[in-house]
Amino acid sequence: MKFFIDTANLAQIKEAQELGVLDGVTTNPSLMAKEGITGKENILKHYVDICNIVDGDVSAEVISTDFDEMVKEGEELAALHEQIVVKLPMIKDGVKACKYFSDKGIRTNVTLVFSPGQALLAAKAGATYVSPFIGRLDDISTDGLNLIAEIRHIYDNYAFDTQILAASVRHTMHVIDCAKLGADVMTGGLASIEGLLKHPLTDSGLAKFLEDYKKGN
Ligand code: E4P
Repeated sequence: MKFFIDTANLAQIKEAQELGVLDGVTTNPSLMAKEGITGKENILKHYVDICNIVDGDVSAEVISTDFDEMVKEGEELAALHEQIVVKLPMIKDGVKACKYFSDKGIRTNVTLVFSPGQALLAAKAGATYVSPFIGRLDDISTDGLNLIAEIRHIYDNYAFDTQILAASVRHTMHVIDCAKLGADVMTGGLASIEGLLKHPLTDSGLAKFLEDYKKGN
């Protein structure tokens, strides 16, 4: 299972990278705005800064909703750095753009996916990644994890290559449940990754080992 971090915060990306378990980064326009990164030039530069920190894939989202504009924007993003994956919204023109990029060998991440049918379309269009937003489904009393299970089932039926990127991961249990269900990738905040470290028996066990070592030395 790949671990992506879902942020545009360079300090957090560095911290996750230094932990040694980071496989990539996802961003979106809201995450960029949260870091105060505005204006096209600054946003493009920020993507390159992120690519220079991590070894893996970095999703960069188009803001166009029209096919021709998406193609232009996506090509510009893809040309920024070899690690860039073009992130496209699950709308009709987004599906067309996904097929266009897939035919050209440019990697894509189809985002804002909330149903198995949308995930099936993304796979048919040759998406590299599909991003079902599990936390946002949970927010409206719908089982986000069930969507991961449904997509896994469909993709396995036909051996689709599209990787299931569980997005909108809100906490550590989401990570564990996605791993059990066979999601290929998860993207969440640094806390959702670092939460996997924690167990009180590890802390108390280590404290006792260190205390006993001191007694004998
Ligand atoms: C996915 O790539 C999105 O950036 C993200 O996971 C959305 O998460 P949110 O629902 O916490 O905003």
